[in-house]
This record gives sequence, C-alpha cells and structure tokens, in this order.
Amino acid sequence: MSSEAGETKVCLLTGASGTIGYAIAKALKASSAPAASWHIIIIGRRPPPQSITNVDGKAPEVLPYDTFLKAEMTSESSVASTLTDHFESLRNSHDANLRSLNRLDLLINCAGCSLGNVPIVDIPADTFREVMEVNLIVPFIFSKWAMTKMAACNPPGGRIINIGSIAVESPRLHAVPYTTSKIALGGLTRALSIEGRSLAKTTKSSDVGEGVVAVCQINPGNVRSSIMSPEEAARREREEGFVEADDIGKYVAMVANFPNGTNVLESTVMPTRQPLVGRG
Ligand SMILES: NC(=O)c1ccc[n+]([C@@H]2O[C@H](COP(=O)([O-])OP(=O)(O)OC[C@H]3O[C@@H](n4cnc5c(N)ncnc54)[C@H](OP(=O)(O)O)[C@@H]3O)[C@@H](O)[C@H]2O)c1
Repeated sequence: MSSEAGETKVCLLTGASGTIGYAIAKALKASSAPAASWHIIIIGRRPPPQSITNVDGKAPEVLPYDTFLKAEMTSESSVASTLTDHFESLRNSHDANLRSLNRLDLLINCAGCSLGNVPIVDIPADTFREVMEVNLIVPFIFSKWAMTKMAACNPPGGRIINIGSIAVESPRLHAVPYTTSKIALGGLTRALSIEGRSLAKTTKSSDVGEGVVAVCQINPGNVRSSIMSPEEAARREREEGFVEADDIGKYVAMVANFPNGTNVLESTVMPTRQPLVGRG
C-alpha cells in the first residue's frame, strides 16, 4: 500500500501463536517506520489466543497482527485455497487501500514441533512422519505458494525466512525426527535460494519479471518455550542458558527489512553459553 504515510509491506507468518513466532510478529511491527510498515497475516490450524503468556511467566501481551487465516497447515489444497481466497477478496475490493494489500513481500515459516526427546527405538514412524510434515512439508507448501505469489506481484520479488534450529549444526541425543527435519529444511532453504535468484526461473510463465526472492534460514539456539518440557528447560537454564525470544524476533526483523537483493543465507542466534563450538 503506498500512501502519504508510506509503503505497507505484507508478511505471512506461521507459528505466531508460539513463543518465537509471537516475538517475530512483535519485532516486525515495532520495526515499522513511517516510510514502510508491516501488515502481518498470521496463519495457523486454530485461532491464536487473545494474548500470549510466555513460559517464563511474563504478563500476557496482545498478539500483534492484522489478519488471521485458518488452514489445515499440512494440506496443500487447504493452504492454497485459504490464501487464494484471501488475496482474491482483496483484489476484488472497492477499497483501494485493501486492493493494495493484494501482494506478498515476506513469508516466515516459523511453525514447528519436536514431539519430545525419545530414543530411536521408541519412535514410531508415524511420529517421525508428523515432525517431517510440520517442520518440512509445511514450509515447502507455503514457500511454493509464496514464490508463485511473489512472482506475480508488481514489482516481482520478496523474501522467505525459514526458522530452523541450532540442531542443524549439532544434534542433541534423542532428537532424530527433529534434527532430520531441520537439516532437511536447510536443504529446502538452499534449493529455494537458487530458484529465488531469478523469479523468472521459478515458473514456466513467460510474463514473469526478473525479481528476486531472498531465501534464508535463521537457526535459534535455546529459547524458553513450550517446545521443550519444563524439566528440560530447567536443565538448559542451569547448563546452557537461553537467548530471549525477543532477541530472535529483532534479528528476524532486521533481516526482513533488508532489500531483497541482500541475503543472510544461514545464521545462528544462540545464548553465548550454549555449548556448540569447541571441545570444552
Ligand atoms: N524454543 C527453542 O529452543 C527453539 C530452538 C530452535 C528452533 N526453534 C524453532 O522455532 C520455531 C518456533 O518454536 P517455539 O519455541 O516458539 O515453539 P512453540 O512456542 O511451541 O510454538 C510452536 C508453533 O508452531 C505451531 N505448530 C506446532 N505444531 C503444529 C502443527 N501440527 N500444525 C500447525 N502448527 C503447528 C504452534 O501452533 P499451535 O498454536 O496450533 O500449536 C505454534 O504456533 C519452531 O520451528 C522450532 O523448531 C525453537
């Protein structure tokens, strides 16, 4: 949306009902400047809570977003029809401001699950499959839709940020599905980033311009959230430390606000004490 108040860019965010997704939405809104602000569409399997209470007991805060869309996240047809209907209704609106929101500048794939830390011998294949669905197939479905939408925008282009994990660099014991899914997400990130160099190469349509989509993966280290058990959180607090979700949010917002011609392919945002590098 271009107006006297400046340009409005549109972001589609998954996982906003969780700790990190919420922090990202908050930081993105806070990074809005008079020249450019963010309109945030959150999408999930259920409506977000009215307010979020962080696992560290901080007071509830209102989730900052503009639109909520409900979809069966692992179903390509559900996601595609939900998003297509939403943007079609904007395109057909009589209100010029709403029509100008018929674009997509940023996709953040943040929804994710681990389904617990369990030895391989106790992991049913269905659990493995579910983690792969949520952490890998869902980002594929959303990235495919987003690339298509970004190619059709005027001017074409955008950015995709995948929220990976420090597990990509160094797995933990008893995290086979989670580690596998996040390393595979790294593969998806790199493969998409090649296609994103030239949008004209992502589609068979000859009328797509030469815009770029910057695709990157941000790997958080320990963040206090419901993705881990309270016992595991207590152990990590003692032995490794936590990075604040708000700091992850600010970092994501900084990357999101770069021009599309600039990418930060892979980065890790972690507590300084978290043991990752070295042998002691
Ligand atoms: N916390 C950490 O230490 C840490 C470290 C590295 C990476 N990460 C990554 O950061 C991302 C966010 O994690 P978080 O710590 O914020 O966890 P969280 O608070 O548990 O939030 C998880 C989010 O993912 C969504 N989600 C989970 N399973 C889903 C499913 N089957 N279908 C649709 N949505 C689903 C949840 O939505 P619902 O409200 O519908 O459940 C929620 O919005 C994940 O990708 C995670 O792997 C976290």
